[in-house]
Amino acid sequence: MSLLPILEYPDPRLRTKAQPVTVFDAALQTLIDDMFATMYAAPGIGLAASQVNVHRQLLVLDVSEEKNAPMVLVNPAIVASAGSRTYQEGCLSVPGIFADVDRADRITVEALDRHGQAQSFEADGLLAICIQHEMDHLVGKLFVDYLSPLKRELVRKKLEKQRRAAAG
Ligand code: NI
Repeated sequence: MSLLPILEYPDPRLRTKAQPVTVFDAALQTLIDDMFATMYAAPGIGLAASQVNVHRQLLVLDVSEEKNAPMVLVNPAIVASAGSRTYQEGCLSVPGIFADVDRADRITVEALDRHGQAQSFEADGLLAICIQHEMDHLVGKLFVDYLSPLKRELVRKKLEKQRRAAAG
């Protein structure tokens, strides 16, 4: 398994709209395993293929405390949603930034698994938030897009400063 470089805001490639996965071959399995390794190493609770510059409708997540509940969603769709919840979100593509975002509290999801088998399930709480956040990546959307233009500009400046500091 290898760790994949994660694109960071405001990289324009994060705005690419992902295409459906149509081939469930060995290369896809390797990509999924590499995405899990990358997500756990970061560490994070979700990663969309868009974030590793693969513009396919694929995401991996694990919101468990013990990091023992890996989930793969291929070509996911939210077919029902209810309620609302505000949660302080972060993103591996927007490192060190956290902000409140409102999303549906309960969702019904249809997706394929890593072998192309259909799955349908209901999610709530952190899992529902995480799925909605990751699915946004597949349409080129980031959680900072929900912030006001002024706040988003502050985020961009803070990231620039962090990068300059890291470059030493
Ligand atoms: Ni994210």
